Amino acid sequence: MSELVEVKGKTKTTPTARNGPAAPRRLYVKSFGCQMNVYDSQRMADTLGPEGFVETTAPDDADLIILNTCHIREKAAEKVYSEIGRMRAFKQQAARQGRRVMLAVAGCVAQAEGEEILRRARGVDLVFGPQSYHRLPQLLRRAEHGAVIDTEFPVEDKFDHLAAPSAAATRRRGVSAFVTVQEGCDKFCTFCVVPYTRGVEVSRPVAKVVAEAARLAEAGVREITLIGQNVNAYHGEDSDGRPSSLGRLLHRLAAIPGIARLRYTTSHPRDMVSDADDSLIAAHRDLPQLMPQLHLPVQSGSDRILAAMNRRHSRADYLKVIERLRAVRPDIAFTSDFIVGFPGESEEDFADTLRLVAEVGYAGAFSFKYSPRPGTPAADMPQLPEDVKHERLQRLQREIDRHQVAFNARCRGRSFEVLFERPGRYPGQIVGRSPYLQPVQVQAPAAMIGEIRAVTVTEVAANSLFGDLVATAPPHAAAAASAGA
Ligand code: SAH
Ligand code: SF4
Ligand code: F3S
Repeated sequence: MSELVEVKGKTKTTPTARNGPAAPRRLYVKSFGCQMNVYDSQRMADTLGPEGFVETTAPDDADLIILNTCHIREKAAEKVYSEIGRMRAFKQQAARQGRRVMLAVAGCVAQAEGEEILRRARGVDLVFGPQSYHRLPQLLRRAEHGAVIDTEFPVEDKFDHLAAPSAAATRRRGVSAFVTVQEGCDKFCTFCVVPYTRGVEVSRPVAKVVAEAARLAEAGVREITLIGQNVNAYHGEDSDGRPSSLGRLLHRLAAIPGIARLRYTTSHPRDMVSDADDSLIAAHRDLPQLMPQLHLPVQSGSDRILAAMNRRHSRADYLKVIERLRAVRPDIAFTSDFIVGFPGESEEDFADTLRLVAEVGYAGAFSFKYSPRPGTPAADMPQLPEDVKHERLQRLQREIDRHQVAFNARCRGRSFEVLFERPGRYPGQIVGRSPYLQPVQVQAPAAMIGEIRAVTVTEVAANSLFGDLVATAPPHAAAAASAGA
């Protein structure tokens, strides 16, 4: 609550607020990349609300355009420049009508390329990195007088200064919400830009995360996904002044009335277990709210490549973690990320990756061709030819698809709890998510959106399931509904 009041207090001194109510300015934010960017975009919109901005989904209508960018692979980073070009056209069109549009580039490309963006692309007014979002109102005022760049890593915690969403904004965004609990990364995998774009690993204190989750629950959110570049390295300060663990944080969140589902992403295999504390594995055993699905990127199945990637775990370590989680939660399903064509990857190394996919039996996975990123150690290693990468990616994707199809097929005839999130494509249909994150389409009234109901899966398509409501409400849904509302 205090975050909101603080920001409101500050905005009283802004010119717009001082001069009385002005016409709302329209804000268009487009997010690329990971969930961290989705969350940050929402918090930027929340912070600009008290400045007189309302969100729009139409860029040609906007007074302020923010592109929240991703630098993870070359393709992602290059997309930003074509998008800037597209947005510049809207800006020029508005200028012809006598309307000033501000174009801002935020996120990881902004952090990594800074001034280079102003050199390469005309029409950009503001470039600012992920650790500067709380200064956005001041940055915008400065940018009215000429292009501004802010890619500092300030000492203060940006989350203390970003506004919280209003209950109305939370309701608009739906019954499932992200909460950032950890940011940055100290792992320095040799292929990855994140430690450079997001900075060192920082965790938010337990009390702040719990307060944010409670506020979301009060506004009707039923599912919270804790996010961080390295979420299971979470070590936020607890009420006793000592560092918590992600497992303990999940316990605290599970106690919040109304929160029926918890998830977390993205985890590093090394941080799933520690000698001192197995609370995260225990949370999977003890918390029914913690969904039986885990995204656990492994990148490669070859020990040689894992070492070259500086992942600091072996294939056997990874499989051990999977085994321990399955021992405490037999119905758990895994998804992963893979990189093919990392420098030095032999056909044998790649075969190890294919074998790992079969051994784990993933419910799904993302796979990428290795993309050399400037400033990362692997970019200076001898590279594999493009056609080798391409061919391996095709083979890996076929293997992953085979397992995903098999996983979905095994769902036919089973009953799951489904959290309904939105109307479906056809009249009378609503769509929810299974515990495994599969979209489930059901004929049911729209009033059921926000509820958790048991559904029997009757049909399985490539990317979604179809089902019928089970007549009686499951015990979870009844308990959560009485506690929540
Ligand atoms: N923090 C997460 C991953 C963040 S990036 C983790 O440690 O797993 C998301 C995914 O992008 C990674 O898992 C990896 O598979 C992929 N990726 C990252 N850098 C890449 C690069 N240079 N080329 C290709 N894929 C990359
Ligand atoms: Fe990148 Fe590795 Fe950190 Fe994940 S753990 S964000 S892949 S450096
Ligand atoms: Fe991309 Fe930055 Fe996320 S590089 S994946 S937006 S942390």
